[in-house]
Amino acid sequence: EKGGYDYFMLKEIAEQPKAVADTLLGRIDASGLLTLDEVRIPASVLREVDKVVIVACGTAYHAGMIAKLAIEHWTRIPCETELASEFRYRDPILDQRTLVIAISQSGETMDTLMALRHAREQGARVLAVCNTNGSTIPRESDAVLYTHAGPEVAVASTKAFLTQLVACYLVALYLGQVRGTKWGDEIETVIRELSDIAAAVDRVLETMEPVRALARSLADKDTVLFLGRHVGYPVALEGALKLKELAYMHAEGFAAGELKHGPIALIEEDLPVVVVVPSPRGRSVLHDKIVSNIQEIRARGARTIVIAEEGDDAVVPYADHLIRIPATPTLLQPLVATVPLQVFACELATARGNEVDQPRNLAKSVTVE
Ligand code: M6R
Repeated sequence: EKGGYDYFMLKEIAEQPKAVADTLLGRIDASGLLTLDEVRIPASVLREVDKVVIVACGTAYHAGMIAKLAIEHWTRIPCETELASEFRYRDPILDQRTLVIAISQSGETMDTLMALRHAREQGARVLAVCNTNGSTIPRESDAVLYTHAGPEVAVASTKAFLTQLVACYLVALYLGQVRGTKWGDEIETVIRELSDIAAAVDRVLETMEPVRALARSLADKDTVLFLGRHVGYPVALEGALKLKELAYMHAEGFAAGELKHGPIALIEEDLPVVVVVPSPRGRSVLHDKIVSNIQEIRARGARTIVIAEEGDDAVVPYADHLIRIPATPTLLQPLVATVPLQVFACELATARGNEVDQPRNLAKSVTVE
């Protein structure tokens, strides 16, 4: 059932192009418009939404952090993303015009379930983004948008994450489409580009051998740091989470702009630091700032592992290891940038002799608070 792979995780990483394509299937019509009637929240209600709150845990929370940026950009509706386990303990401000999005692969995560119950008690509408048909979270929500990743067996989430991102982009773009925003043209372009993204993920998978070799060479390290900005920041957190879970290494993700506010003190000779570089086209200011960050940490001895778009030459002089990803629209970059980090963590775990599919102390779905 592992389809010839040594681990479910490897199989699930390889299935990502299909999972992404399946999650888009039937949701974009021939004229390039989104059709999310299945969500069954009337457009009139979506037009009234004045705040979006996303609740989720772990990897799904990282998808939610990226979703926040997409929703705010394309819809201009204020959006916050919160750890489901923190949410109901702070008396959050919710009402009938709040749309709560609960993201969960399993649909059984107790923290997320308790957060959505709390939201509904306050009168908010809840949309579940879920991978498991008929599970508790979608059953208790007002509406559901299913991700079509297929069953995910490995404890470390991979293909579910990519499809959560796709589903969240669809929600963000659909909200923008229904409400009409100044980004109308961009929304049309991004919907078109989403259709090419499965092929881009496939291209990334074909170039992973150097990433595996690099991972093996780092098997005896104690710490790996991850830096990113904007959508690259949650990607950095996700890369670090994968490494903790699978390789049992100390791994931390930071927003690159925070470096000088503390984390740069951690940099020492030969410390591996993975940097997720934003596109030089979209938010070019951020790109240039990250390039300076790479220079700064390298000057202090860090071994820089740079994930950058094809054709981004500015990073070349400062990258000890360069991992290329295809160019995508800015907000979609996590779909390609996360994949090398999954492969990296999986290979490091193998090199360290760890059990990849069943890491110690972890369960696939966390059904207690
Ligand atoms: O089933 P869920 O998406 O609700 O699970 C949430 C987290 O428990 C999950 O993403 C966890 O962090 C994974 N093991 C990460 O790889």
